[in-house]
Amino acid sequence: MQELIWINGKIIPLSEAHVAIEDRGFQFADGVYEVLRIYGGRMFALGPHLDRLARSCDGISLQMPMKIEKLAGEMREFVERAGVRDGSIYLQISRGASLRNPVFPIKATPTLLFYVRSVVPLPGVGTGAGASLLSVPDERWHRCWIKSTALLANILARNAATEKGCDEAVFVDGEMLSECGSSNLFIVADNQLVTAPVGPRVLPGITREIILGVAAEIGVETQVRPLRRDAAVSANELFICSTMREIIWVSRWDGRTVGDGTCGAITRRLHQALRKAIANECNL
Ligand SMILES: Cc1ncc(COP(=O)(O)O)c(C=O)c1O
Repeated sequence: MQELIWINGKIIPLSEAHVAIEDRGFQFADGVYEVLRIYGGRMFALGPHLDRLARSCDGISLQMPMKIEKLAGEMREFVERAGVRDGSIYLQISRGASLRNPVFPIKATPTLLFYVRSVVPLPGVGTGAGASLLSVPDERWHRCWIKSTALLANILARNAATEKGCDEAVFVDGEMLSECGSSNLFIVADNQLVTAPVGPRVLPGITREIILGVAAEIGVETQVRPLRRDAAVSANELFICSTMREIIWVSRWDGRTVGDGTCGAITRRLHQALRKAIANECNL
């Protein structure tokens, strides 16, 4: 089936879509984005993703080109038309095209687009090889709560990890850990689930928030507090989470085996609870 894109109100073949050379998204990464997961033909956690999109827009003084409710309706219709059962939807808003100038243009029409891609369904809970992590210095800006398209520092970090044969980079600042290149980080220590607070160095991950919610439901104690590297090094369980990866248990970190080198019991229970929340919402 031909891949389509919704761009500035029109639905056209993805291969025919283009943006202007002077689009500020292209020249300055002056834009924000979201990635949602589609399960059984339905978007998961659409409301939280669009709320975060609105906060990201606010964070860069960009007016949403469309009311959230209308955008949600357009996305639902598009997903239905795309007919993808297991997939992702990528959405981006840039400040639009204008003469190249760092100062915000007085008049520019934002570029809004989204498109769907199929993905291979994830493996069963607790199965598959765990992720191996590499520590990298946190060289990003201090507004990581904005889901900005300016991802070069994250991309360099992730590639540094790949070069070392690792799956994901963990950002380290002195003794503190924040999050990963494209996922949030959790540790399980003394039967407590711990993650760093969102803010200058941590994106308010939608999966992170849902995991904190399901943890409370299944009776796992949670703590949101700054994460020290030494606490994480001695944790029994470690996992990363994101929309596209759900939960992936961590098997190795900087070459050392984490815990006993298998997926921990609490990680497994949390992933099962997350899958249940997904199944409930998406009618699976
Ligand atoms: C830097 C960063 N942190 C965390 C996440 C996880 O966020 P979410 O659960 O909303 O996908 C992502 C996702 O892309 C990310 O890029």
